[in-house]
Amino acid sequence: MTFMGNELKEKLIAKIEYAESALKAASTEAEIENLRVEMIGRNGFFPAISAEMKNIPYQEKPEFGKAFNVAKNRFESLLEEAKESLKTKSRRQSDKSVDLTLPGRKWPIGVKHPISKVIDDCVAIFRRMGFIVAEGPEIETVYHNFDALNTPPDHPSRDPQDTFYFGDGRLLRTQTSTVQIRYMEKNQPPIRIVSPGRCFRRDTPDATHSMNFHQSEGLYIDKNVSMADLKSTLLYFGRELMGSETQLRLRPHFFPFTEPSVECDFSCIMCGGKGCRVCKFSGWLEIAGAGMVNPNVLRNVGFNPEEWSGYAFGMGIERIAMIRYRINDIRYLYENDMRFLEQF
Ligand code: PHE
Repeated sequence: MTFMGNELKEKLIAKIEYAESALKAASTEAEIENLRVEMIGRNGFFPAISAEMKNIPYQEKPEFGKAFNVAKNRFESLLEEAKESLKTKSRRQSDKSVDLTLPGRKWPIGVKHPISKVIDDCVAIFRRMGFIVAEGPEIETVYHNFDALNTPPDHPSRDPQDTFYFGDGRLLRTQTSTVQIRYMEKNQPPIRIVSPGRCFRRDTPDATHSMNFHQSEGLYIDKNVSMADLKSTLLYFGRELMGSETQLRLRPHFFPFTEPSVECDFSCIMCGGKGCRVCKFSGWLEIAGAGMVNPNVLRNVGFNPEEWSGYAFGMGIERIAMIRYRINDIRYLYENDMRFLEQF
C-alpha cells in the first residue's frame, strides 16, 4: 500500500481502538452521545476519512473501503452495546438502591378477641387453684348432652325448638356439661377440670341471645366435697376476676345433673351492689349455674356416689365479656368488625 493508504489505515485502526476503550469507560449517556458525534456525526471521524479516500490510489480503494466499512460497522455495534449496558446498569442500580431512611412497612397487629381474652383469664384463675383444661367435641351425642347428665326424656331443654339435632343421635352441644361426662368416662377421681368451649342453642338472636355462645364448665370430684368448697371456689374466682370487694350470692335453682343446684350471682362490678343499669338495679349479676354433682351422673360414669362427691358449675363467657367490657349487644362479638375488635 502507498504511504497515503497506510497512513489512513493506521489512523483508522488507532481511532477505532480509542473509540472502543472510550465507549467501555463511558458511564453516562452524554459521554456516549459525544463519542457518536465525534465518530459518525456529520463532521465526525468517519465522514472525514471517507472524504480523504479520494486521495488514495484507485487500486487500493477496494481494500481500504473494506477496512473502512468493517471499522465503521464495528464502531456502530460497539455504540449500541454501550447504550444497552448503560441501560441495564442503571436499571440494576435503581433495583439495589434501598432507601434506608424510609419508614418500615407497618403490618396491622391483631388483637385477641374479647371472648378469647375472657376465656384465657378465667382459665388462668382456675389453673392457680389446680384445675386443668379439658375439652370435648362441639358435635355431641344425645347421650352425652342429655341422658348421661340425668336429663329426663321430657325435659324442655331437649325440645327440638331449643336444640339443633342431626337426626342420627347427634346434636350440637347445648352446654359444656358434656365434657364432664367425657372426662369422667376416661379418668378416675380426684378430678379438677375447666372446659371452655362453644355451645349452640336454637335461640332467636337478639341483644342478649345468640345461636352460638361460649361456656366454661368446671368439675371437681374428690372425697367429701361439700357445698362450702363450691362456694369458696366461686368466691375466689369472682374476686380474682372482678376485684376483691366482689360478693357472691347463691340462689336455689334446678339442673338435672346437680343436686342441690344453684344460680350464682356476683355483686355488680359497676355499682358495687347499689343498683345501676348494668345490673338492672338489682345490685347482682348472674354469672353461672352450679351445684353438687347428682349421684345419678356419678353412677352413669361408673363412680360410686358413696365414695366420691363433687361440684360442677357452668358460666357464660359472653355474659362475663359483656359486663367486663360494657358491651350492650351480644351480636357485636360475632360480627368481626375491626372497629369494634380493635378496642380491646
Ligand atoms: N350447663 C348448665 C347450663 O347450661 C350450667 C351448669 C353447669 C349448671 C354445671 C350446673 C352445673 O345452664
